[in-house]
Amino acid sequence: MADDILLSVRHLTHCFRLSKRQVLRAVDGISFDVQRGEIFGLVGESGSGKSTVARCVMNILRPTQGEILFNGVNVCDAAQRRANKKMLQTQRQIIFQDSASSLNPRMTAAEIIAEPMQINHITTPRGSCRAEAEFQLHYVGMDASYLDKYPPELSGGMRQRVAIARALSMEPELLVADEPIASLDVSIQAQIINLFKHLQEEHGFTFLFIAHDLAVVRYLCDRAAVLYHGKIVELAPTAELFSNPCHPYTKALLSAIPIPDPRKERARPLVKFDGKGLRGEGRLEEVSAGHLVWKEAET
Ligand SMILES: Nc1ncnc2c1ncn2[C@@H]1O[C@H](COP(=O)(O)OP(=O)(O)O)[C@@H](O)[C@H]1O
Ligand SMILES: [Mg+2]
Repeated sequence: MADDILLSVRHLTHCFRLSKRQVLRAVDGISFDVQRGEIFGLVGESGSGKSTVARCVMNILRPTQGEILFNGVNVCDAAQRRANKKMLQTQRQIIFQDSASSLNPRMTAAEIIAEPMQINHITTPRGSCRAEAEFQLHYVGMDASYLDKYPPELSGGMRQRVAIARALSMEPELLVADEPIASLDVSIQAQIINLFKHLQEEHGFTFLFIAHDLAVVRYLCDRAAVLYHGKIVELAPTAELFSNPCHPYTKALLSAIPIPDPRKERARPLVKFDGKGLRGEGRLEEVSAGHLVWKEAET
């Protein structure tokens, strides 16, 4: 595996068994690589399988088929997982949409941030857990006055920052962010997005950034994949994806981004996607360098 690839998802399929006879193929044979230092976006409507991918990457769910390599370690293989337990526990962190609301209300910000270091027996480079927590808080734009605050005393945006600081305390290489801003006010969303951009540009973090909001993906991500019913229909550098969308579903999704100008907004055609050409077999074909588009197999 190339050295600059941090995460490699290969032919990943995940099925949920709904009943004795019914199986839901939530993720259907997808492949993508995340390069070190990039923000890779995974976009799609609700139910397209984004969180299922994230949970497979984090070993919260076991893939039905396929493999996931993180730092060259196959995380789907129990023996490899055991041999690299500490690396996997510290170097991959996830931030959920509701991370902020899942913080223990009886612990202070300092205790919350320090807890993973204690669980993983990590020696604190800055001398004490409190010093470490202060450092991490500072990192996410909060000062030491927040150290002794409890989650109910903080705003939603501040709580999400504490959740991010907690993830960062492990100094992970990869941050999986599953719709991390969806439950925040719009003004706070921008702050968190800018924080992610800062973390990437100044500190070299790698992100798997999951969103249904294309405007955010356009601003934040280097490359992005569009997910539809568990399949990647298009994958490209973000600028290319937005200037030259090729798959009808991507076009439909792009047409659904609100345009600030009300006249243009009214004149805009509403494209609906009927799933045509995505019900059978097919594969991703490269239309230009790094730009992959799903092509249905000829029958
Ligand atoms: N634990 C589960 N059991 C059964 N079906 C599930 C479960 N989790 C998710 N699903 C289904 O899998 C599909 C993909 O879900 P999810 O990955 O959460 O999508 P997204 O994050 O894009 O909204 C959806 O149809 C959802 O209803
Ligand atoms: Mg989800």
